Amino acid sequence: MSTVMTIDGLSKSFGGLKAVDNVSFEVASNAITTVIGPNGAGKTTLFNLVSGAISPAAGKVHLRGKDVTGFGPAELQRAGVARSFQITNLFFEMTVRENLRLAAQRLEPLSHTLRPLRRIGRAAEKVDALMERFGFSEKAHEQVGFLSHGEQRRLEIAMCLASEPAILMLDEPTQGMSHGDTEDTAEMIRGLKNEVSILLIEHDIGLVMDLSNHVIVMHQGQKLAEGEPTEIRANPAVQAAYFGHG
Ligand SMILES: Nc1ncnc2c1ncn2[C@@H]1O[C@H](COP(=O)(O)OP(=O)(O)O)[C@@H](O)[C@H]1O
Ligand SMILES: [Mg+2]
Repeated sequence: MSTVMTIDGLSKSFGGLKAVDNVSFEVASNAITTVIGPNGAGKTTLFNLVSGAISPAAGKVHLRGKDVTGFGPAELQRAGVARSFQITNLFFEMTVRENLRLAAQRLEPLSHTLRPLRRIGRAAEKVDALMERFGFSEKAHEQVGFLSHGEQRRLEIAMCLASEPAILMLDEPTQGMSHGDTEDTAEMIRGLKNEVSILLIEHDIGLVMDLSNHVIVMHQGQKLAEGEPTEIRANPAVQAAYFGHG
């Protein structure tokens, strides 16, 4: 299995607290890698480090062999790292189609006037394909503010994909969703791994076991264990640190 991202000895402290402490792992291509751990384990801080929101005090991140350590969010996005920010990337007064169109344009740093027509055509095709695939064809002209919460979350993920990333990072994508929306989202995430490598943070342990190819367990800033879902479930240290606390 090939590797899309290598995380090597990442560390970050806040005051005296080691939020992420010498964490290393690899993200496999076209697979779902899930980070789990109790509240405060350092999962979101790890995502902030990997997506460039904050800089590590130590450690390296390589994307497809390239050192991207210390890159900011925009640079990382261009390099192929997309992160869903739980609907905060959406423009609520604009339509579904307009939102996707904007996301697809992020692919192209050139101004409109300089962009070859065939690229504009390609972005439009991409938008249509994403709308169809994510079930928004009927709602293309609906204002995003009027969509349900689940639809908004789904649109965010579609927008991340519009820029054709190498790796898609999702921090608790099913948080606050109804049971039905959670199942739909899980199904959608499962379908995505054919085209993108997924790095996921998820609370719903049933979903984690069902979806993940590889699981990273964090505890108090450190990597406690990693492995296939069945290995993780059977690991006594993981059971004590994680499952024990429900
Ligand atoms: N910006 C920050 N400033 C200070 N402490 C922080 C900051 N971000 C996170 N922390 C602390 O770092 C630890 C890890 O937090 P976080 O990464 O959010 O954990 P998780 O996502 O696993 O719940 C927690 O103790 C949290 O309070
Ligand atoms: Mg978190």
